Amino acid sequence: MEVTTEVRETRQLLREARQKGCRIGCVPTMGALHAGHLSLVEECRKSVDFVLVTIFVNPTQFGPSEDLERYPRPLAQDLNACEHAQVDAVFTPEISTLYPEGFDTWVECGEISRILEGASRPGHFRGVTTIVAKLLNIVQPDVACFGQKDYQQQTIIRQMVRDLDIPTEIVVCPTLREADGLALSSRNAYLNEQQRASAVALFQALEQAEELLQAGNVSFQEVEEAMIERLKSFEGVDPEYAVIRNPDTLQEPSESLTSVVALIAARLGKTRLIDNRTIPITK
Ligand code: PAF
Repeated sequence: MEVTTEVRETRQLLREARQKGCRIGCVPTMGALHAGHLSLVEECRKSVDFVLVTIFVNPTQFGPSEDLERYPRPLAQDLNACEHAQVDAVFTPEISTLYPEGFDTWVECGEISRILEGASRPGHFRGVTTIVAKLLNIVQPDVACFGQKDYQQQTIIRQMVRDLDIPTEIVVCPTLREADGLALSSRNAYLNEQQRASAVALFQALEQAEELLQAGNVSFQEVEEAMIERLKSFEGVDPEYAVIRNPDTLQEPSESLTSVVALIAARLGKTRLIDNRTIPITK
């Protein structure tokens, strides 16, 4: 497995792979890799010959009071995990490589990046779309894989790729979960024992949303209220939002939709977790 830190050497490596006829796949990450990331690698590998993982804790997607400083950075462990997963190359640049002195060009989607996560974390998606555009531009992959867990992120990235004619196929992979339903996330590592026990609240609230919608005869507002109640019934869980939205636009859903997405963000102490579920509507 090759490990690169510079743009030029990464491009050279990829040029050589392409010359051998390889299709290139990219899995962008911020490291602290868990089974969810490795499932993206596995999915990517199905449609390409050469998988490159990027490991970069992107400072521009963190707000001033967020967890940039304490975000886990177990690089040696991550490289080991990539090696075991038969990743072909890892690109792990320094901040100054991707944001050199004088950097001042930003990629930003419109309204969809300002609601929900964008409203709670102003500027977050501008940081995400800027870094993902840069990584796709450096790697120029045929395929790039993202997790369904960051539902709004993958929706925005698909929009950016469409709008900017970036010739990369975006593949969205299912969320991996712990036995009790908690979605795998690098931020789960922040939870203490009590918070970890309560963190199942997000999954339980999504279960409840699905049950209510499947049973029918319930308004979207009633489902949202029920999710909030369920979240609050767990010790130390402070819901930020629990909403039912149009799965494509993330706007308020109309009654005519055949499926919706339930999206949740909640705080447990200083840790903020998100989760979601796409739910078919039975008429
Ligand atoms: O989902 C993540 O880990 C990050 O937001 C991403 C896509 C790697 C961009 O920094």
